[in-house]
Amino acid sequence: MIIAPSLLAADFSRLAKETERASKSGAEWLHLDIMDGHFVPNISFGPAVVASLRPLTKMFFDVHLMCSKPEILLEPFAKAGADEIIIHVELGEAVAPLIWKIRSLGKKVGLAVNPPTSIALAQPHLEQIDLLLVMTVNPGFGGQEFIHECLPKIQQAAAWRLEKQLNYRVEVDGGINNQTVAECARAGADTFVSGTTLFGQRNMKAAVARMRKVADAHDAALVDLKV
Ligand code: DX5
Ligand code: ZN
Repeated sequence: MIIAPSLLAADFSRLAKETERASKSGAEWLHLDIMDGHFVPNISFGPAVVASLRPLTKMFFDVHLMCSKPEILLEPFAKAGADEIIIHVELGEAVAPLIWKIRSLGKKVGLAVNPPTSIALAQPHLEQIDLLLVMTVNPGFGGQEFIHECLPKIQQAAAWRLEKQLNYRVEVDGGINNQTVAECARAGADTFVSGTTLFGQRNMKAAVARMRKVADAHDAALVDLKV
């Protein structure tokens, strides 16, 4: 189980301090939301910001590109210190060459699926990816409400992984709090992005520990064994 605080919910006037706070929280990953004002109706930050935060922590940088033209951003984010780059399946025919390009840069590859998009679109790529991200809100903004209709997609992602004997991670992103983390873990998710719920707490370490405890208690693999 991996907990990934999303920097989108940090205080942007103190990004270095916020990164250090996340780093000391016990979370393994830092989720970095990159928005281009086109693929989603919002703009966040770019490679220069990521590069400036890279020396501050050893956390795994999980870079989520919500961008219409990720091809122009892969090298800059790889150089900035991304460990994984996530692109969206909604980009259609561009997806296969983008996956290849990310891999050729020596980075892990993630593929994201928006709430209205069928998870079936991700199926042809499963053997080439390290992580499948099931979006549980429509991307663009933090602090939105979890969309419960996405839960069957998490189950499908986990079922395919078992059937095909693959080992990509199943990540969820959007509206993850101490209730929805349980539902997602039970459905088969193992990687939990959370912005508002974690950065919103004065004591992020306690918030991460609490979220991890709930995720562990509802771990689909262990729940199955108990039945
Ligand atoms: C949404 C982003 C998320 C966002 C989640 O577009 O992809 O990573 O930061 O924020 P919360 O946890 O506040 O829903
Ligand atoms: Zn994200």
